[in-house]
Amino acid sequence: MPGRDPRPALHELLVREFAAEHVRLLASGTQALQVALIEAARDLRGDVIAALPAFTCFDVATAAVGAGVRIALYDVDPGTLSPDLDSLTAALTAGARLVVVTPLYGVPVQWRAVLECAAAVGAAVIEDAAQGFGASWLGRPLGSLGAVSVLSFGRGKGWTGGRGGALLARGRAPPSAANGNGAGLWREVEVLALAAAQWAFARPAAYGLPAALPWLGLGETRYRDPVAPRPLPRAAAGLLLRGFPDAQREAAERRHRAHRLLAATAIQGKGRLMEPPAGATPGYLRLPLRLAGGLGGLVDPAVATRLGAARSYPSSLGALAAVRARLVGPARRWPGAEELVRDLVTLPTHSLLSERDLEALTKSVTG
Ligand SMILES: Cc1ncc(COP(=O)(O)O)c(C=O)c1O
Repeated sequence: MPGRDPRPALHELLVREFAAEHVRLLASGTQALQVALIEAARDLRGDVIAALPAFTCFDVATAAVGAGVRIALYDVDPGTLSPDLDSLTAALTAGARLVVVTPLYGVPVQWRAVLECAAAVGAAVIEDAAQGFGASWLGRPLGSLGAVSVLSFGRGKGWTGGRGGALLARGRAPPSAANGNGAGLWREVEVLALAAAQWAFARPAAYGLPAALPWLGLGETRYRDPVAPRPLPRAAAGLLLRGFPDAQREAAERRHRAHRLLAATAIQGKGRLMEPPAGATPGYLRLPLRLAGGLGGLVDPAVATRLGAARSYPSSLGALAAVRARLVGPARRWPGAEELVRDLVTLPTHSLLSERDLEALTKSVTG
């Protein structure tokens, strides 16, 4: 493709915005996490066990399978979406020496407590901030907290390049491979088409459409097999560079709309909201809410889903065959994750929701 390669400039932006010392740009967040796990496992001897949240995006399992590590699952506290520290300690006692933490919907976890738990046995923590754009903890953006952090630039994330991911490292040797150039023309074109489609289908009036276009893969959560990591396409880097100021503005709008929904005391009375830890500014990629019966517990599920309300992950990672095949540790049930599978509903927060949409959404939740 003609023109200057935008990836070095994106690299610089990530160094600056996320206090990274080393950056590696990859074709997806899943691949970035897979590489993070491979490199962390290389530093450890023998059979490596990674502790993963029992309730999270299935791509986290894909990355662990792709990295060839064994898996111990720790439970998630349904009241905070943070790791259940007793359960995390049990996973560490079972031999896990890598911990993956995934703040969901931009709600920061109890980061300090997790670090202390891991440090007690010398385990390394990987911060998977795929859903963290626009969120911060003690004034530091998610994605800048770990010795190793992962970002996703995929669909539905706060800052998207159509697809893509980054592995950020601090205070350690630079990631082994260069950023690479050879993404190939067809993938560049595919990225631009994907980004255009994601933009078009972001508006509420079009929510009915993506279901009819399975190739977009919108609105579904399924396990995907791992692939060999590849470099970030130039087109994605260009979109990310140009889109950064807009993504920041959009993140502020999302936080604002989330606070509007949170201030609707009726919503507080109806469901249980997440309690972010002290010092946290959630990004609220979406607003998570626990309701007995999930979407079925809403007063008007049809209106709510038309406006973009959705259930969260349809099962715990422990229900995935690919995870079960690698599972170690005593736990075979994760009650917090099971409760979240059953009850967690997420409300949209994006800037295309008008005042009227917000009111209709609130009414659809509370009546
Ligand atoms: C927590 C988490 N980790 C990793 C990923 C994977 O990112 P990508 O879609 O860029 O592969 C996602 C995607 O939704 C995610 O939510």
